[in-house]
Amino acid sequence: MSPFLLTRTLPVDATEAALRADVLAGLSRRPKTLPPKWFYDARGSELFEEITRLPEYYPTRAEREVLVAHAADIAAASGARTLIELGSGSSEKTRHLLDALPLLHSYVPVDVSESALTGAAEALLAERPELNVHALIADFTGGLALPGTPGPRLVAFLGGTIGNLLPEERAAFLRSVRSILSPGDALLLGTDLVKEPDTLVAAYDDAAGVTAAFNKNVLEVVNRVLDADFDLAAFDHVARWDAEAEWIEMRLRARSALTVKIHELDLVVSFEEGEELRTEVSAKFRRERVRDELGAAGMRLDQWWTDTAGRFAVSLATAV
Ligand code: SAH
Ligand code: AVI
Repeated sequence: MSPFLLTRTLPVDATEAALRADVLAGLSRRPKTLPPKWFYDARGSELFEEITRLPEYYPTRAEREVLVAHAADIAAASGARTLIELGSGSSEKTRHLLDALPLLHSYVPVDVSESALTGAAEALLAERPELNVHALIADFTGGLALPGTPGPRLVAFLGGTIGNLLPEERAAFLRSVRSILSPGDALLLGTDLVKEPDTLVAAYDDAAGVTAAFNKNVLEVVNRVLDADFDLAAFDHVARWDAEAEWIEMRLRARSALTVKIHELDLVVSFEEGEELRTEVSAKFRRERVRDELGAAGMRLDQWWTDTAGRFAVSLATAV
């Protein structure tokens, strides 16, 4: 097996500083919020993988169906020599793309989760020892310093993770993706679609409680990194469909009035009984919104594929 390169563009102390800033700002406002990227320490990445196997969580299976059906179309349209994947996680579904791209030289997975990147790179290289894997520990909402691998490049952003960005963050993110596309490059974007609320809520509030554990894991991260004393049992997992915004919101609701000490920030945070902390939005899309948001960022929607049940879409876009 050839070794893979792992580049940390996010130094550990910068990550800690970013968490401190997000916790300070997010827990001082009403409603309280925390950004979803802090779910993903090693345990959070494991819990997400468990979520992808739940009967209620259809997006992973639906997106895989599209990738299997259209990997050859994607490969023919992109002719990619470098595949850059943002928020790559376990890179499980990516295997279908890697297998379909005959000219591929390099795979560049980008993720905040070091454990996910290492696990994915080791598993991929065990099967494809000839592949150049250059993994980047980086925040995809920051500027991306990409390695000088050969083009054309295909930038993949799968899983529906774009829905975890707020509308203004999405616009900025898509502009930053556009800025790294050279002529001949393309963006492959996975988006979960608007559907019946019961199906959506069940996907984010599963019977086995795995999503609840994933949601609460953000409190474990704050406890560990910032020496806080959140009692996970004092919060309930909440998943709610917001029909106007067309997104699922995950929240943590305080069961009773309580205070939390965050020693590293010298901060005491009070929660009223029933007060909710928003930990994630997961926006669901319609084709027009994807087309318009890509257009506003200077990209054109060239292809739109869905699974047979019409639950999830994968789009191919190019710069205009
Ligand atoms: N693409 C995979 C994983 C989706 S889970 C799939 O489709 O199954 C979302 C992934 O994005 C996680 O691995 C998480 O660590 C990563 N992530 C979340 N926010 C991020 C950010 N701001 N920058 C980089 N990676 C991020
Ligand atoms: C990574 N992301 C697309 C997932 C989602 O569905 O929004 C994260 C997740 N949250 C709860 N379950 C899964």
